Amino acid sequence: MGTVTVRKIDDDVIRDLRISAARRGVSMEQEARDRLRSPQTQDHGSEPVESAGNKPPWRLKASMEELLALGRKLPHGEFDQKDESDRLYDYLEQHDGHSMTMSDKQILLIICGGIAAYKSLDLIRRLRERGASVRCVMTKAAQEFVTPLSVGALTAGHVFTDLFDRQDEHDVGHIRLSREADLIVVAPATADLMAKLAGGHANDLASAVLMATDKKVLMAPAMNPSMWSHPATRRNRAQLEKDGILFVGPNTGEMAESGEAGTGRMAEPLEIAAAVELLLDTRPKPLAGRRIIVTSGPTHEPIDPVRYIANRSSGKQGHAIAAALARLGADVRLVSGPVAIPDPAGVRTIHVERAEEMRDAVEQLMPADAAIFVAAVADWRAEGAADQKIKKVAGDGPPVLRMVENPDILATVGHHRKRPWLVVGFAAETQDVLKNAEAKLAKKGADFIVANDVSGSVMGGDRNRVTIVSKSGVQEWPEMGKDEVAARLAGLIAERLKTTAV
Ligand SMILES: Cc1cc2nc3c(=O)[nH]c(=O)nc-3n(C[C@H](O)[C@H](O)[C@H](O)COP(=O)(O)O)c2cc1C
Repeated sequence: MGTVTVRKIDDDVIRDLRISAARRGVSMEQEARDRLRSPQTQDHGSEPVESAGNKPPWRLKASMEELLALGRKLPHGEFDQKDESDRLYDYLEQHDGHSMTMSDKQILLIICGGIAAYKSLDLIRRLRERGASVRCVMTKAAQEFVTPLSVGALTAGHVFTDLFDRQDEHDVGHIRLSREADLIVVAPATADLMAKLAGGHANDLASAVLMATDKKVLMAPAMNPSMWSHPATRRNRAQLEKDGILFVGPNTGEMAESGEAGTGRMAEPLEIAAAVELLLDTRPKPLAGRRIIVTSGPTHEPIDPVRYIANRSSGKQGHAIAAALARLGADVRLVSGPVAIPDPAGVRTIHVERAEEMRDAVEQLMPADAAIFVAAVADWRAEGAADQKIKKVAGDGPPVLRMVENPDILATVGHHRKRPWLVVGFAAETQDVLKNAEAKLAKKGADFIVANDVSGSVMGGDRNRVTIVSKSGVQEWPEMGKDEVAARLAGLIAERLKTTAV
């Protein structure tokens, strides 16, 4: 490996690498290395690019061209002697895309007693390599899983473990600990810690610090799926969200306990670092002070306690829009139907199942500056869902389902007395996309409709091709990643809201 430092690389490429690395739970260097070395990993949703000679097919072609152009400008021609993958790898090794986004920031990391505590060691590294200084508080239970010695070695500082440690209380004290940080991160956050904070307890250092702080708190819960779905944990989470606590994860997947899977896995350290980055981001926030409601995902309409009517919506587009609006500073309330993806960082998410619940949640969240209806809400539900599982009775034949219309949430809000200043609807169609979108615009009282043809693999996929239909005309956007659609749409919304008072 050489020593050339390249200071300029396409931001989109860095962002793309960062996102896919976070999703796979690997470092950006590893993600780049894997993409460069394995032909199979090239197509992360983009068009395959023809390979040149024996070089790997090159998904990052544009940025590599940029690197090569830059290399040619370097004085000693050092760049030209190296092969392409080495060049990018060098760049990433030295830069890792995160470019010290957290310099001068102090993060207080509270580690609780769960299996995922080992991942908090990596989290410390991720935060520090972005320039943050990290102070750690460990609960008594956390010390059963990782030692203060390892944590202290990684933070290069003292680890705080005891509320009644006279020396610590004299030197720093729990109030200062809680106030000197720019952000408090709890990772892993146990069911126990969530319960404590939801109930206002402060009987150990972690809970006392959380009760005393005036800073934002980001929690990364980690627990067994049954603990996560327990009504008590759900209640506590709802209470904590009401109190302004932010969440990243948990994710769905395999648990550390063998044979267990479900929702409860702690978000990966890189995902948590990305959420922290977002919360500490000091770039201009054109949507600061704006409250925006976003709906996302499908709805599940019950037939009986075990069966329901659903659709293929994954929530990827709606969640990405919520995240993009949050990045621009909006106070985003996401009303999500049942999805298998994590809640976006920095967004308050309300989980619902049925269309009627979604409508009620949206109405409760009003007034708002804007509302973006991305959810694929079922048009109909089964009339009078059965209380008990419908049994198959020999000779009776299949049951007849009578369908009734669900509330039209977009139209309800579009004509509401508390109508947000900007109302945006999505129209998922499989035919006559434009015609249907234009009709929807007038009928639903929306300012613009984002029409998409979902006849292909849009539902559940990572890419989308949308057309923006408004009274002032039609704008066709080329096919792009759902994150990119989200970022552009957030920009458009910011532009539209610019003319109204905050
Ligand atoms: C092996 C083992 C693994 C555990 N993993 C978790 C976990 O992942 N999440 C959780 O909420 N609790 C877990 N617990 C239970 C907590 O350690 C326990 O509730 C403890 O009181 C939490 O204390 P704290 O919140 O002060 O750290 C685990 C316990 C054991 C023995």
